[in-house]
Amino acid sequence: MLRSKRYSNVFLKEEGANPTGSFKARGLALAVTMAKHFGLKKLAVPSAGNAAGALAAYAAAAGIEANIFMPKDVPFANYVEAVLYGANVTLVDGLISDCGRIVAERKEKEGWFDISTLKEPFRIEGKKTMGYELVEQLGWEYPAAVFYPTGGGVGLIGMWKAFVELEELGWVKPGRRPKMIAVQSAGCAPVTRAFESGEKVSQMWQNAETFASGLRVPKPYGDYIMLEILKESGGVSLSFPDEQILASLKDWAKNEGVFLSPEGAASTVAYDHLIKSGYLKPEDKVVLFNTGAGLKYTDVTAKAAGLEQPS
Ligand SMILES: Cc1ncc(COP(=O)(O)O)c(C=O)c1O
Repeated sequence: MLRSKRYSNVFLKEEGANPTGSFKARGLALAVTMAKHFGLKKLAVPSAGNAAGALAAYAAAAGIEANIFMPKDVPFANYVEAVLYGANVTLVDGLISDCGRIVAERKEKEGWFDISTLKEPFRIEGKKTMGYELVEQLGWEYPAAVFYPTGGGVGLIGMWKAFVELEELGWVKPGRRPKMIAVQSAGCAPVTRAFESGEKVSQMWQNAETFASGLRVPKPYGDYIMLEILKESGGVSLSFPDEQILASLKDWAKNEGVFLSPEGAASTVAYDHLIKSGYLKPEDKVVLFNTGAGLKYTDVTAKAAGLEQPS
């Protein structure tokens, strides 16, 4: 957890230092451990990119086969890592929803166990450690708000579970839990659209496009759980154009010395927005998630910033 240099009540939860450079390691470390425990031999996953790398790494360590389906335009690092960890990688001309369909169609015949988020019980258990840690790191107190870059939303759901458990354990005083702030890109914002129109579930987002590749989830499987949590916590779902996300990424790089992932920069844009709007006050203690290392995204971030590779 890094305290911002400029905003003394902003704590950046830096997930880029996890194995494979993103928070996806938390869920897949546990899911693959349990898969090995239960004797599974072949795993399959649709991924927006970072889950692929994490699954490939843990599967390699466990000696289990990993079959990965991801969009063909994922950040290059996600492709390279998955291939080098020895996974069977298929690049799909489509989005994670198309990848999910392929896994569902083929898994029975191929004998694959589908390790997609919320279709097995352990990834969420791994992800919930983010909730335990942030409360511990703040001295066993809740922040006023938690900003979470939201694709499938498993981290948000996992953290809420952690807060319930922390209260049951008596490790935090039951009271006002943090407002959960889901953040998406305007290029793929099904949760924000559903939240704003008061729907209980989201509608499939058409032509999803954003350089925050982890946020390109056009129809999250657990949307109804997320929408309930947002409401119960008094939070909101917000989305911002990629230009604003990029501007915030540059701002944090230059003024804080932190190279955010595009998904993480969506959190920082959202914070600025909610301070400006008065929804939050500068004295409110908040946690912003940087869910991955900026260095995994040099190709997509350079393209968004108009930087060319020197020849
Ligand atoms: C860096 C990063 N941030 C956020 C997300 C969205 O995570 P979730 O699907 O748990 O909402 C992803 C998903 O791939 C990601 O890779």
